[in-house]
Amino acid sequence: MRLLVCGGAGFIGSTFARLRVREHGDEVTVLDKLTYAGRRENLEDIIEEIRFVHGAIEDAQAVADAVRECDAIVNFAAETHVDRSIADPEGFIVTNMQGTHVLLEAARVKELRYLQVSTDEVYGSIAEGAFTEQSPLQPSSPYSATKTGADLLVSSYFHTYGLPTLICRGSNNYGPNQYPEKLIPLMILNALAGDRLPVYGDGRNVRNWLYVEDFGRGIGHVLAHGVPGEAYNCGGPDECENLEVVRRVLELTGREDSLIEFVTDRPGHDRRYSLASGKLRGLGWEPRMRFEQGLERTVEWYRDNAWWWEPIRSGAYRSYYQRQYGRALKT
Ligand code: NAD
Ligand code: TYD
Repeated sequence: MRLLVCGGAGFIGSTFARLRVREHGDEVTVLDKLTYAGRRENLEDIIEEIRFVHGAIEDAQAVADAVRECDAIVNFAAETHVDRSIADPEGFIVTNMQGTHVLLEAARVKELRYLQVSTDEVYGSIAEGAFTEQSPLQPSSPYSATKTGADLLVSSYFHTYGLPTLICRGSNNYGPNQYPEKLIPLMILNALAGDRLPVYGDGRNVRNWLYVEDFGRGIGHVLAHGVPGEAYNCGGPDECENLEVVRRVLELTGREDSLIEFVTDRPGHDRRYSLASGKLRGLGWEPRMRFEQGLERTVEWYRDNAWWWEPIRSGAYRSYYQRQYGRALKT
């Protein structure tokens, strides 16, 4: 297959691009704006085997150039961090909504299959049970609201223009190459540095953890076997409270629980996410990695790959960290 992978220099997009090249022999074009979260380093091992286009999804000309000779678009490109969306939502509206619109137009003109990578956060928080694809969309943050807007736009292109669209909604991903603003890599790198681990609120929020390669394969499954116009949930096999995640990270890095620091809660913080993935499992997908083993592997990857995260921790991330946590990052 000839795929345009938008946002393919990010955490999940680069994993997906690697899986497609290595496991399917696909011809992959990556279109990426290379924001703070997008890094050529993430594609280092496959860069000779793909076509890389530096550009933004909201730029119609860049998209038209990138999409030449592709059969399908898979869109990962997004502003993705809830805390940043609370501090400054504007860029989320441009990339997540306007950018998605530009891609849908390109797909419409060229009559391409279009897959939107989405998130469990579009459903909002659930105290018990799990969200199905029929659950109402009730996003809480500017991040999830813009992802929801994009999902609705995608569905409208199916209903209005008959574009063969698909949506795949993943739960919280973790694994190698994740930018250390997100819970797991942030906690791992702080623990390795002997720094404090900032836990929001009471630390009892629950997330449904999905190893990044499992999500990449789930998206591939939807692309190959999904029914146009449909959405598919792709949830991880294990749920865990944040505090428990942080304790396991401390254990795996040989640090004491005394490094845990409870900090002011995130505004509008969703308590629990949980996805029912029966529909996607019905297509033959299932997650391969349990959280315990995946977390161990992830800690090992960060321990062994300082070349990847040192430039981040010594760059602009330091001022982000200072603003977000009100104290300097220890390296
Ligand atoms: P990420 O922040 O690591 O990567 C985002 C990528 O998109 C980066 O390479 C960035 O440079 C690129 N990008 C940003 N704005 C762009 C623009 N305007 N034009 C072109 N490229 C642009 O994100 P991620 O964690 O890999 O998430 C990828 C997708 O998966 C997102 O759509 C996100 O909503 C979704 N998702 C993420 C998770 C998770 O836990 N991380 C879970 C479910 C779904
Ligand atoms: P995050 O990785 O930002 O993903 P999301 O908000 O999309 O689920 O956060 C995961 C959970 O960890 C969430 O409940 C917020 C919490 N969290 C902290 O307690 N401390 C932190 O420093 C961060 C970044 C997140």
